[in-house]
Amino acid sequence: MRVGLDFGTTNTTAAVYDGDKVTLIPLDPVAANHEVLRTALFITPEGERQIGRAAINAFTEGNVGREIIYERRSLGTLKQTYAEVGTIEEEIVGLVDVNSPGRLFQSLKTMLRDPSYVRTNVFGVEYTLEQLIAFILREIRRRIEAFLGTKVTALTVGRPVHYAATAEGDALAIQRMTNACALAGLDAVSFLPEPIAAAYAYAAYQREQRNVLVFDFGGGTLDVTVMAINGTERTVLATDGVPIGGDILDSKIVTGALTPYFGAGARLGPRKLPLPAVLLERLNDWQSILELHTPKILQVIDEAVRTGDKPQELQALRALVRENYGLLLYEAAERGKRELSSAPEATIAMHQGVINFDHRLPRFEFERLIGPEARAIAACTDRVVQAAGLEPEQIDVVLRTGGSSRIPKFVRLLSERFTAERLREQDPFTSVGAGLAIAAYDSALVEQR
Ligand SMILES: Nc1ncnc2c1ncn2[C@@H]1O[C@H](COP(=O)(O)OP(=O)(O)OP(=O)(O)O)[C@@H](O)[C@H]1O
Ligand SMILES: [Mg+2]
Repeated sequence: MRVGLDFGTTNTTAAVYDGDKVTLIPLDPVAANHEVLRTALFITPEGERQIGRAAINAFTEGNVGREIIYERRSLGTLKQTYAEVGTIEEEIVGLVDVNSPGRLFQSLKTMLRDPSYVRTNVFGVEYTLEQLIAFILREIRRRIEAFLGTKVTALTVGRPVHYAATAEGDALAIQRMTNACALAGLDAVSFLPEPIAAAYAYAAYQREQRNVLVFDFGGGTLDVTVMAINGTERTVLATDGVPIGGDILDSKIVTGALTPYFGAGARLGPRKLPLPAVLLERLNDWQSILELHTPKILQVIDEAVRTGDKPQELQALRALVRENYGLLLYEAAERGKRELSSAPEATIAMHQGVINFDHRLPRFEFERLIGPEARAIAACTDRVVQAAGLEPEQIDVVLRTGGSSRIPKFVRLLSERFTAERLREQDPFTSVGAGLAIAAYDSALVEQR
């Protein structure tokens, strides 16, 4: 069976098409919506793995609020042979977080474009990025096959128009994604840009002649495509994208509005030195907050708590790092962001021991924080229309899809250019997967001819 797979930064969906209707495959039995799987992987020290909502739950239950305990442990022995002295066996001792219940990975798709992210050590085992993604894909494949009762013979996978800002970054990401599929036992893989897939999903039920602009704004990337649809004929006129997504917007909220609750602006010691910049820089995503978990950095934070002029906030920073509240902080910011899509103001709250705040974030303040991203997105949208050789008035329909396309600032950006009447929201979380299923089915027809 040919399957369409939308492996998203935040969410993953899979679907099949029979020439008449699309069926979304229930990938996550634990999630509120079974058809949308969070792109998350959890690995325990014993090597057990979970994906989706279960992965996030396992991490949250076991890790959040847990105090890290470092112990000096033997990590094995190193044998080295020297010409003059012979072989020397040396014991390697390292600091190990002895009661960690497991590691959680999210936004792995974003790492595909990063040449410096090659492998990571998970409780003493080295995994490449491709292996981590393959763990998710293999389990997804198993769930699809169990649901369909037949093997996945070919896969049409979505890809952002641009994974990365450079051509080399793009090529690297495609190669790694292909490798990850192969490791998961999926060899017959073809790629289709995600916004083109969303346009397919729209075109399947639309036969009139139309110029369609797809604005697909997800967790990791914004992808824009202009297509001409005429009956069953579909022509891509232009396509473009930027590596900006909802993850970055969450980060803007944390770094732009919430760091004062974690000691930003504090002065340390009699010389009133500023807090080392690296500490606050690492708050820019929850996984890098974990990287502050080193005995040395914890020592720096302890010192700051002792000598700083904002002891309460610095204690909150210490708890954030020591007790693993980074994911909770980011979930609170993300919730606030989503609330701002329907309300003019949101309150971002955290009450976990010494971490205590209720931050009022008005929508206009959020819009100010994401100003640079919005400008890049406006420029990208204008570029695509121009590259298609059209005037904005010649765009008949604008399809908004992807979770971040619900943000009012971007709805406004689109209605200013194309008028509100021409905007349509299309299943933000499932339309790309549905379109990929249609493309997978079509490719079978092409091969049969
Ligand atoms: N109502 C909302 N308002 C604003 N943002 C939202 C809303 N709902 C979801 N999001 C954001 O949408 C993103 C997820 O969207 P989606 O599932 O389309 O992404 P994805 O397909 O996984 O990512 P990508 O296509 O970039 O790889 C998250 O960043 C989430 O915070
Ligand atoms: Mg997407």
